[in-house]
Amino acid sequence: MTGHQTLGPAAATALGQLNERLAAKPAAHLQVSGLSIHYSTLRGPFNAVDNVSFEVAAGTNLGLVGESGCGKSTVVKALMGLLPEMTRVTGQALLDGQNILGLSDADLQDVRWNRISLITQSAMNSLDPVYCIGDQICEAILAHEPVGKTVAWARAEQMFALVGLPAERLREFPHQFSGGMRQRAVIAMALALNAGMLLADEPTTALDPIMQSQIMSRIRGIHDHMRRSMILVTHDIAVVAETCETVVVMYAGKVAESGPTQDVLDRPLHPYTMGLQNAFPRLPVRGQPRKPLISIPGTVPNLLLPPAGCRFAGRCPFATNLCRSVAPPTYQIGAQSAACHYVERASQFRVAAAEPDTWRSMEPSR
Ligand SMILES: Nc1ncnc2c1ncn2[C@@H]1O[C@H](COP(=O)(O)OP(=O)(O)O)[C@@H](O)[C@H]1O
Ligand code: SF4
Ligand SMILES: [Mg+2]
Repeated sequence: MTGHQTLGPAAATALGQLNERLAAKPAAHLQVSGLSIHYSTLRGPFNAVDNVSFEVAAGTNLGLVGESGCGKSTVVKALMGLLPEMTRVTGQALLDGQNILGLSDADLQDVRWNRISLITQSAMNSLDPVYCIGDQICEAILAHEPVGKTVAWARAEQMFALVGLPAERLREFPHQFSGGMRQRAVIAMALALNAGMLLADEPTTALDPIMQSQIMSRIRGIHDHMRRSMILVTHDIAVVAETCETVVVMYAGKVAESGPTQDVLDRPLHPYTMGLQNAFPRLPVRGQPRKPLISIPGTVPNLLLPPAGCRFAGRCPFATNLCRSVAPPTYQIGAQSAACHYVERASQFRVAAAEPDTWRSMEPSR
């Protein structure tokens, strides 16, 4: 590994101790309960996240999926303490038993990067253009660990090696990197302190398809190796199938469906999940015909004036008058739960949802 050769014996020992300390950090457990978030806007409070609850067991990956605008990044920002001022946050997010919502700046400093870290959608947002990348990674390490700059730099070199970047490029600035390399640098930074909880918010969205799959397999490889807990935010349900033990499907700020990924993908209970599966089909199964791509007509409703009943009613091919007037409660079926009035009809809905005509006509089913 790079770095060791250039270190004196004392620094090499300090690096070894730092690595041991960081490796000993346990994976984190996260329990989010009743999380609601209102942005303050000129047109009134905007309810971007409404009563969201989920749990990430230590050492597992949870996929947070939903179309753009469903509130996924808002949840992530709340967990990182990055929401704008004036945003109203209620509910709890217990990270290993400690509520991390509404922490003081000093407490937040202790938690961020050290216990919970973030790989954002746009690497440019998390890297400072005026510092070289190595200094940025070192700064995070020095803020939390009692080591000198030489040791922190050596750790940064190791992180670069882990994500497949040459150590000498640590001296470069973000604009000197290609998009894919920047994204890898952000991953290196998020891993530098081996935080127990990793948040990855659409980590590959800005990249071309080949780079997307390279970065995703790198994230998966790192996960297998380090066994951190992770929330992977994506609009692509097929990526979740390969990466996450559990999945939470969000629609218009609410949880539409959640449960073990295998169960949710094999037997979705919520029509929105069925629609997402059509829009992002999994790789074709050998011997079975490739599924047609069907997008869900319409858009996410305006949350300044949320619809009275089910938020998906305007786009759901199975919506009834009940759906349009009464918000569905969440039903638990086995390990799965779904907020739909008609969960007991899910198997019928699944058959109908696989037909493109069902989504094209969008006529109420009764
Ligand atoms: N700072 C903000 N002020 C007001 N509304 C916001 C702000 N940030 C995001 N929103 C709105 O909140 C909703 C959820 O956004 P976001 O969490 O980014 O969704 P996603 O990550 O699922 O695409 C969107 O309608 C978005 O326009
Ligand atoms: S409650 Fe009604 S509108 Fe909402 S997802 Fe279920 S069937 Fe569709
Ligand atoms: Mg987002």
